[in-house]
Parts: sequence; structure tokens; C-alpha cells
Amino acid sequence: MVREPSQRDRRQAAGMAAPATSARANVNLALVKYWGKRDRALNLPATGSISLTLDGLSVEASVAFGGAEADRVEIDGVEAGGDEAVRVARFLDVVRTEAGRRERALVATRSTVPRGIGLASSAAAFAALALAASRAAGLALDPSALSALARRGSGSAARSVLGGFVEWRRGERADGRDSVAEPLAPPDFWDLRVVVAVTSSAPKAVSSRAGMEHAATSPFYPAWVAGAEADLAEARAAIRARDLEALGLVAEHSALEMHAVGLAARPPLVYWRAATVECMHRVWALRAEGTPAFATIDAGPQVKALCGTADASRVAEALGAVAGVERVLV
Ligand code: PMV
Repeated sequence: MVREPSQRDRRQAAGMAAPATSARANVNLALVKYWGKRDRALNLPATGSISLTLDGLSVEASVAFGGAEADRVEIDGVEAGGDEAVRVARFLDVVRTEAGRRERALVATRSTVPRGIGLASSAAAFAALALAASRAAGLALDPSALSALARRGSGSAARSVLGGFVEWRRGERADGRDSVAEPLAPPDFWDLRVVVAVTSSAPKAVSSRAGMEHAATSPFYPAWVAGAEADLAEARAAIRARDLEALGLVAEHSALEMHAVGLAARPPLVYWRAATVECMHRVWALRAEGTPAFATIDAGPQVKALCGTADASRVAEALGAVAGVERVLV
């Protein structure tokens, strides 16, 4: 499915002058979570996952090859160093290898995602970077190849190359060419809202990369992997039927099962704060009162509630009133 650059592409790319190329991608929210890898180096997931790409929260990346001694990375106007710069440089190495090029690159990214809200902008950043860097390097990648490339930067970035409801397939191949995102439904298929309750804007203590590695110490990890196919099937059917309750229930289950893996790990890995738990109870209370809203939580303490458009302001108000919630975002 993934198109390899042809020899001609490689020759053309190698000889080309390099204009700056820009691309934009949006963040996504996992409804059936990715939590664990079958190959660390290639970011191949132990299970498939399903997400919803969110409108309005995006990252724009621009890339120009040539004219620099070393890769330079600017994030929101500030020169990046340390781990961030290394991560981008490694990603550019993947692009250079695919394109048969050697020049260093100038990279700039701009994000419309507020910081510290737990909507990892890295997914959008690496999806945008995959598109901008591959084009700048002279590669014309189809969506599957683009997804496989974005995956190398951040697993969840594999899903941000597409809009709407997206499934990232686990794949079977050792080279990961079949571990790519596929569209399940376009953005206009079903208009939903996500309400984010921010319970802490402190930087996260344990990255998803580290958290996933640590999951192997949990006796619940094999059960998590074994249950994934059933969750994926349930979510696909719910999306097809536009059944919010069915989708919400499986999303809640997937999130809580992912966190249960951490609770039973050694030492335990608990991303929640008190307000995280309170928000979940508030979401369940809303449901009991007749407002369909469903909670999901990623590798951090924020709670994201999935609901219909008509209920978004009620859900935002309810979560905003929970003690310990710093702010809400719809
Ligand atoms: O793509 P990463 O390495 O940032 O991992 C993402 C992990 C979760 O957000 C918790 C789940 C997911 O599927 O996005």
C-alpha cells in the first residue's frame, strides 16, 4: 500500500534546490487507545486504535532543506534544543533516507493548540512535519505512506494525517508498511463535540513513550492487548450507526482499561489527580440526569468528554464547576 520513492524520485530529489514547504495537521483524540508497542524503533503498535481528528486545533510545519550545517528547529518562534530537537532531527533522518538526500533542514512549527491542556500537539506536529518534510525533500507520498512516515515521529501522528474518524491498523508486517491510518468516516459524517476539562497544566510527569514501556510490568497488559479487537469492532459499528451511546461506552471502557494497566504496573503508574476522578463522576451524573456524555483520559490528568453539539455547553458548565478544574475548552 505504501509507495516507495522510485529511483527517479531519488535522483530528482537529490538534485533539487529546496524551497520551504508548509503543511498543516490537526490533533486527534483516541477513542480506542493505542497503549503499547510491538516494535519500539518503528513505533509499531501492539493493537489498533481509533480516533477523531479535532477541528481548529492544528500545527503548521514548514521545512526547507539545504543552507544549514545542522538541522535547526523552531517551535512557536523559539529555537528548540535538547530532546525536542533530537526527536525532530531523527525524524528528518528518516525522511532523508527515504528521499536519498543529505542536506540539513530548517524546520519551524506553529501551533494553535493551547499548551498544557493534554491534547498532545505532537500528533499534529509530526503529521504536519511528515507532509511538509516529504514534499520539501521531493517525495510525493500517498496518504498511507504519509501515515507510516508520521508514525515514526509519534505513534498517534499516524492518525492525524486524516480528518474525521480514523483507524490506525496494528498491521502484521515487521517493516510496518501495513501499520497505517485508514479513514472510517469523513469529518462531516457526524458532528460531535469534545469538552476538555483541564485539571492540571503542569507538564506531564511520565511521557506516553515511558508509560507504554512500563505497561509491560502490569499483569493486566496481556488482557488489554487481547481485548483490543473487540473494542475496535464495537467502535467501528458505533461510528457507522452514529450511535453516541455505543461509541461513548466503548471509549470510556478503552480509556479506563488503559489506565487500569498502569494501576497494576510495578511501580504503579497513575496519571489521575483528584479532580480527574471527580470529573468522571460528574460525567456519569450527567448521564444519569439524561445528558449523553462520555469520558476519556489520555496519558495525563485531563478529562475529555465526548457529547453531542447541543449538549456541549451544558457539559462544559458542569465540568467547569468541578473543584480542581482549572478551565474547560470545547
Ligand atoms: O503517540 P504517542 O506516543 O504520544 O502516544 C499516545 C498515547 C495516548 O494518547 C494515551 C493514546 C492514543 O491512542 O493517542
